[in-house]
Amino acid sequence: MSLKERFRANFAAAPDIIAAAPGRVEVIGNHTDYNLGPVIGAGIDRHVFVALRRIPEREFRFSSTVSDIATVQDASTPKSGSDSWVNYPLGVYNSLLRRGLASEGGFELAVESDVPSGAGLSSSAALELATAKAICAAFEMELSSWELAIASREAENEFVGVPCGILDQGVSAMGESGHLVHIDCRNMESSVIPLGRSYSIWIFNTHKKHSLVESLYSERHRECTEAVAQLNREGMDIACLADMTSERFERVRDSLDATLANRAAHVIGEIERVERVRTLLEQGNGDAVGKELFASHASSRNLFENSVEELDYLVDILESMPQVLGARLTGGGFGGAVMALTGESFTEIYADSVASAYRGRFGQSPGVLQCHTADGARIVEGAESSDTIESSLG
Ligand code: GLA
Repeated sequence: MSLKERFRANFAAAPDIIAAAPGRVEVIGNHTDYNLGPVIGAGIDRHVFVALRRIPEREFRFSSTVSDIATVQDASTPKSGSDSWVNYPLGVYNSLLRRGLASEGGFELAVESDVPSGAGLSSSAALELATAKAICAAFEMELSSWELAIASREAENEFVGVPCGILDQGVSAMGESGHLVHIDCRNMESSVIPLGRSYSIWIFNTHKKHSLVESLYSERHRECTEAVAQLNREGMDIACLADMTSERFERVRDSLDATLANRAAHVIGEIERVERVRTLLEQGNGDAVGKELFASHASSRNLFENSVEELDYLVDILESMPQVLGARLTGGGFGGAVMALTGESFTEIYADSVASAYRGRFGQSPGVLQCHTADGARIVEGAESSDTIESSLG
């Protein structure tokens, strides 16, 4: 059943709007975003679709492919249990209310996705952005794509309760086909970098997720904040790790707690790698970009300690293949996926050989996905629709 058909079957009416937002891949900039450094990502050709209808009743009805219809009267309180996925769209609704969205009435929302979940490709940010686009269109509110990204991140931080940075929402909002997105997380500005047609992005999903992944992410966040405090005690006078250079850092590194020093060294080095990658991409130097990606992974593994054996194994195999320019863990870490930047000569045959080596070692195949860069969140049907998306979702 297509999304539209399910919407009709569930709510006995047609949706006003269908919006789509892409998943994202983090190309480089691991845990740099909430430290106010830069990050480079890409919107990918896997999307979350949201169909939405504004209704006069003060009620919010949600339909997904995996659970029963959830009906909510009190939109201001996060839900728990099996309906907790509605906190993403509800959180976005609350963020938009704070920005002046008309508060009368409610909506019906149905969602469908071809972003693999649990692969570190940010299906949650895509759900937030598609919801934000659809609500704005149905309620006739005008906000820029950046404002939608910021409102969506606020939903995730405050309503869902995950202290993420702006990477996921920023890229899902600002993605551009044929390009990578560079985000300056301090000034909340984005720009795009053309990705030559001879490059490919591949995802290898371990399907592993550390049971403590949320709390480990928060712990790293806290360690970065503590590192800033210790650096200030050493006379650095900084507001965030992005205020440090490696050179200044090395002068005081030995005075810090060893774990905090490693966390800070990773973030500070990674920030510098992002800027080098940007320049190298602009120069078309794919080989040198690839080396920075491998260096990023080594830093995550050794200093930030957010890798796992399965991710390291994938990166090691990929590093031994001449068709692969670079590879690294992508996203928060502690499981999830590896992304590889390859040349055209890396085909499915090579991807299969990586998968079978992995299977030989861990007894289970990784998910393998070749991604193409895609545009950011947009309306695909209904008012102001300017676009269509090739999709089997209908
Ligand atoms: C997750 C978060 C992002 C970012 C990455 C790590 O994907 O949602 O904000 O911090 O981890 O770079």
